[in-house]
Amino acid sequence: MDDLKSKYLGLISGASDEATLEDLRVQALGKKGEISAQMRELGRMSPEERQTAGPALNALKDEINSALIAKKTALGDAALDERLRSEWLDVTLPGRTRRQGTIHPISQVTEEVSAIFADMGFSVAEGPQVESDWYNFDALNIPGHHPARAEMDTFYMARAAGDDRPPAVLRTHTSPVQIRSMEAQGAPIRVICPGRVYRADYDQTHTPMFHQIEGLAIDKAISMANLKWVLEEFVKSYFEVDTVDIRFRASHFPFTEPSAEVDIRCSWEGGTLKVGEGDDWLEILGSGMVHPKVLQAARIDPTQWQGFAFGMGIDRIAMLKYGIPDLRAFFDSDLRWLRHYGFAALDVPTLHAGLSR
Ligand code: PHE
Repeated sequence: MDDLKSKYLGLISGASDEATLEDLRVQALGKKGEISAQMRELGRMSPEERQTAGPALNALKDEINSALIAKKTALGDAALDERLRSEWLDVTLPGRTRRQGTIHPISQVTEEVSAIFADMGFSVAEGPQVESDWYNFDALNIPGHHPARAEMDTFYMARAAGDDRPPAVLRTHTSPVQIRSMEAQGAPIRVICPGRVYRADYDQTHTPMFHQIEGLAIDKAISMANLKWVLEEFVKSYFEVDTVDIRFRASHFPFTEPSAEVDIRCSWEGGTLKVGEGDDWLEILGSGMVHPKVLQAARIDPTQWQGFAFGMGIDRIAMLKYGIPDLRAFFDSDLRWLRHYGFAALDVPTLHAGLSR
């Protein structure tokens, strides 16, 4: 019995992991273990022998059991100590800078454009994206039968059964914000209205949701000449060039009269856009003098007030300035794209610091 005792206590104290301990437990105390075999021997002993051997065997069994438990605890403590040592960290160290998120080019360009127009005295106005038929169409001189409604690929909202008002729409342009701003502020007024617009269209240069920025200036004596100056100033600031050449092309919008589409002179030499030089023309926006009916719809007297409006695609001018080839990538949320084209969070565009640095 002494041999068994010293054998197992020795093995237990030398064990280096829990699996070894478990093997030892089975070897000694398991059903076929050595101590258990001794226990079975008790049956064949005389009552006198059994009286001393029985308690001694039981004591040995207990001793081995306690040794196993003690060793198991010790191994666990050692493992924990080791883990604490290897995973230790100094919480007093300063934080390490990590790669920041980026500002989406659409947000950046919206800020750039807003900064430029703010400098010319325009304030920013917003309107709802789910718009009534009246604000999106009628008030802008686009009555029910007008072909412009069909051209716009409008998304219509559902109406409850029995509700026979014209369905609300996802606004197809930012022009309804002209009406809302004039209703709210009256004249004179100078606002720009950036925001999301929706049309059912999808290819390399069209997505069902995109962004526009509307401009509106109403006063006593505003003319196309003011429009031209404002747009020239805008294009110079936005593309960060000293000179620009702008061309007004006669066009038609129901809400302006006369109407013009505006092109800027540019070159595409070597595949990169240069604004202000070259023999190409690039269309950047639609504009015109606000139609008297539109002023009337917004309760402004067209015999007293007049002014210009324009609407520009934010996504489009972002693509042009930053050389982004596919519009759809704007809305894919691809992290690699966002890191490449995104802007640093603190890179707030201001006219004095430079718009796109
Ligand atoms: N709303 C027009 C469009 O979406 C753009 C525009 C705005 C044209 C204001 C003239 C005046 O195409």
